[in-house]
Amino acid sequence: MYSSNCCRGACRVLRESRVKCPINVSVSLRTMSPRPLASWTFVKLTGSAAGPRVQAARTVWSSSVDPAELRKFQAVSSRWWDLQGGCAALHAMNELRVPFIRDNLLNVHSVRSLGKPLAGLRILDVGCGGGLLTEPLGRLGAAVVGVDPVEDSVRIAELHASHDPELQKCVKYRACTLEDLAHEEEEGFDAVLASEVLEHLADLDTFIHCCHHVLKPGGSLFITTINRTQLSYVLGIVLAEWLLRIIPSGTHDWDKFITPVELERLLESSGFSVESLRGMLYNPASGAWTWQRSTSVTYALHALKQREEQLDHTHSEGEESAHPP
Ligand SMILES: C[S@@+](CC[C@H](N)C(=O)[O-])C[C@H]1O[C@@H](n2cnc3c(N)ncnc32)[C@H](O)[C@@H]1O
Repeated sequence: MYSSNCCRGACRVLRESRVKCPINVSVSLRTMSPRPLASWTFVKLTGSAAGPRVQAARTVWSSSVDPAELRKFQAVSSRWWDLQGGCAALHAMNELRVPFIRDNLLNVHSVRSLGKPLAGLRILDVGCGGGLLTEPLGRLGAAVVGVDPVEDSVRIAELHASHDPELQKCVKYRACTLEDLAHEEEEGFDAVLASEVLEHLADLDTFIHCCHHVLKPGGSLFITTINRTQLSYVLGIVLAEWLLRIIPSGTHDWDKFITPVELERLLESSGFSVESLRGMLYNPASGAWTWQRSTSVTYALHALKQREEQLDHTHSEGEESAHPP
């Protein structure tokens, strides 16, 4: 199934490509997005006297998956719900990230249902692992889809949720990548979550682009991730992995960390506006996270997918400032 966006993209591809004869299949670089992307749109053409016609178009995203990263999560997939194990810090992070997501969503959407404040919202939790973040958002009333490429993690998430009848109706899991889902998703999500996922990807551009694709206009993207600083190396790798062994050694690769400036730049050039950015820090002695002014180690970000009229405005502003009178 192809979204209207894909078809619009295909038409644009056709306009911009120099198709001389009505051949069967053409492959062209995709140009429909707010910024160029390393993905391909396969356009099927049929010929007639009036010229070529688009019969079908399918965007093939390049993969965000780093197989070496997935092997790490495969190896620990049975331990997601061990509160004392390597995921203890992720469990504790819910104290900050769940209210961060809930409150920002309530600011954007005027949904208020007693006891179930997120009722009526569709949320996608990408890289959901064992469902540590998926479940509490389901309990707040949202319809949450958790996806993860590691099948064993998804089975654990399903098993864990099956013990709570309240979750049966609102939480669903799928073993797939975001790119797979981006091909199918037509309705659009109100929010996409990528918590502690960005630092494990092979292709961040594709990932952000797919987040944009599966969101409704005005929808929310929530990210938590690790900054690339000397301090994050000392605290996140040397202390957390090597000395205290809070998380398994080798979990993180410092080169994959992303600074807030880099992330904001990528998001804004991909059709998002960044609404909120907050630093977070984990205290291994207390096992608790606290909000920080500094984003030098870990941070949480909320961005909105810009509506078309906002994008047009941004572009025309950009053009104006590039060509002053
Ligand atoms: C540190 S865990 C975070 C799990 C969960 N988001 C949480 O905070 O509890 C990172 C997760 O990202 C998943 N992951 C790795 N590469 C991914 C990709 N390309 N697309 C989606 N998920 C990915 C891993 O399988 C793993 O479950």
